[in-house]
Amino acid sequence: MICSGATAYPRLIDFKKIREICDEVGAIMWVDAAHFIGLVAGKAIPSPVPYADVVSFTTHKVLRGPRGGMILSKAEHAAAVDKAVFPGMQGGPIMSAVAAKAVALKECLEPAYQAYAKQVIENARALAGALEKEGMRAVSGGTDTHLALIDVRSTGVTGKVADERCGKSGITLNKNAIPYDPQTPAVTSGIRVGTPAVTTQGMTTSEMPEIAALIARAIRDGEDEAKAAAIKSDVSALTSRFPAYPSNARVLTSFINSRCAHLYVDAANSKSRLKVSRCRKCARARYSSRSHRSMGAVLLCGLRLVQP
Ligand SMILES: Cc1ncc(COP(=O)(O)O)c(C=O)c1O
Repeated sequence: MICSGATAYPRLIDFKKIREICDEVGAIMWVDAAHFIGLVAGKAIPSPVPYADVVSFTTHKVLRGPRGGMILSKAEHAAAVDKAVFPGMQGGPIMSAVAAKAVALKECLEPAYQAYAKQVIENARALAGALEKEGMRAVSGGTDTHLALIDVRSTGVTGKVADERCGKSGITLNKNAIPYDPQTPAVTSGIRVGTPAVTTQGMTTSEMPEIAALIARAIRDGEDEAKAAAIKSDVSALTSRFPAYPSNARVLTSFINSRCAHLYVDAANSKSRLKVSRCRKCARARYSSRSHRSMGAVLLCGLRLVQP
């Protein structure tokens, strides 16, 4: 079996070519489409489905659905896939999560979703270009997808330090290894930025230079507590122009984690900041995960909300 897919690759993968290689060597073609399937669903990039034997993906990245996954396969592999998943891997169904997946997939069929997918790529291109103007190299010179991989060596800090400084400044992104990285995978020389969340909040290419400038300031000055606080305040000023939630609304979110299957979550909105949210049934605090901790400038995962 040959598996193709990526977690920080900003370009399109040539699935036709991979199919040809699989045919030549008699391999099953499995595509891990976790990252980009949302762009495929939005018809913004080509689909691997016509070429692959099996396509697996998560539902909580660009796709903007609940935490979870799906596996598509050709009929001849269906029994083997089912057997690999159950029993052993899969427990009882969490019906609220299944329902949330259905809602996410229905949203994918709407024209607004296609506009979102296209805008995600335009924003990622603009963000990569703006970060280059800030003096940081975009690996491969840009992006065709929802993310960009940025070489931060020109700033004199490692990916790890850049990640930490951005975090302190209210910006969520990841450290990430770059090709031929001289640093270890735990330290790295790069960062990975993505645009689905800011796009979902309504930001366009106009805001990307502002985000790039905030990232550059955070990386360069974020060691200084006072400067990090000033950058954080500027991040808040930007995000408050793009409220993530309707004002004072009780919202129903499709974000469900494995520890809590309850669908109803209270999320109070005040000046666009996500307040502490608790599941009304089990009272567990929510949004503790890294992806949703901050509605700062750059988040890889989108959080989709539906008003009841
Ligand atoms: C390429 C790829 N596949 C699969 C996954 C699995 O996602 P998760 O662990 O969130 O289910 C990830 C996560 O980032 C990924 O990058």
